[in-house]
Amino acid sequence: MKGPLAIIGYMGSGKSTVGRILARRLGWEFVDLDTEIAVREKRPIPQIFRESGEGYFRDLESRGLAWALGTEERVVACGGGVVLREENRRLLSAASTVFLEEDLGVLYARTRGDSRPLRGTSREEFERRYAEREALYAESCGLRVLVDGRTPEEVTEEVLRWMKG
Ligand code: S3P
Repeated sequence: MKGPLAIIGYMGSGKSTVGRILARRLGWEFVDLDTEIAVREKRPIPQIFRESGEGYFRDLESRGLAWALGTEERVVACGGGVVLREENRRLLSAASTVFLEEDLGVLYARTRGDSRPLRGTSREEFERRYAEREALYAESCGLRVLVDGRTPEEVTEEVLRWMKG
């Protein structure tokens, strides 16, 4: 069982929920990268995007990821766009990384009405962004889990089985 363990996937796929359960089961520390960034910046993610732009956020995200993956007994839930930068994909490939995959209609409905800056307002935009990322999620992970409506606990069991190898 080799850590750290990173959880990646699109917005709304349950990365933080599953990550928290996994950390508890493993007895490891849990880090939510977006929360970490917001705390360090003393402002929420939408405000960082609005005031400082996406490039600024991505710089914080890359720095935060490098820090977060520096401790072995840790589960790291990443933001949906973490795979956009090659340096991040390299770090993820070197860790134990799980890609949580879920039906896009489910993800679109689940993220309705919340404040994610890149969620967008149309299903087309949401799908286009995912299409740009899917191959990046796939190349960065060691395990691809199809959530398919299963509970976070069921998904956790699958990840734990993989980690026990
Ligand atoms: C983003 C996803 C968000 C957050 C930021 C950008 C993205 O995290 O990092 O709003 O580019 O998909 P979640 O995947 O937790 O929503």
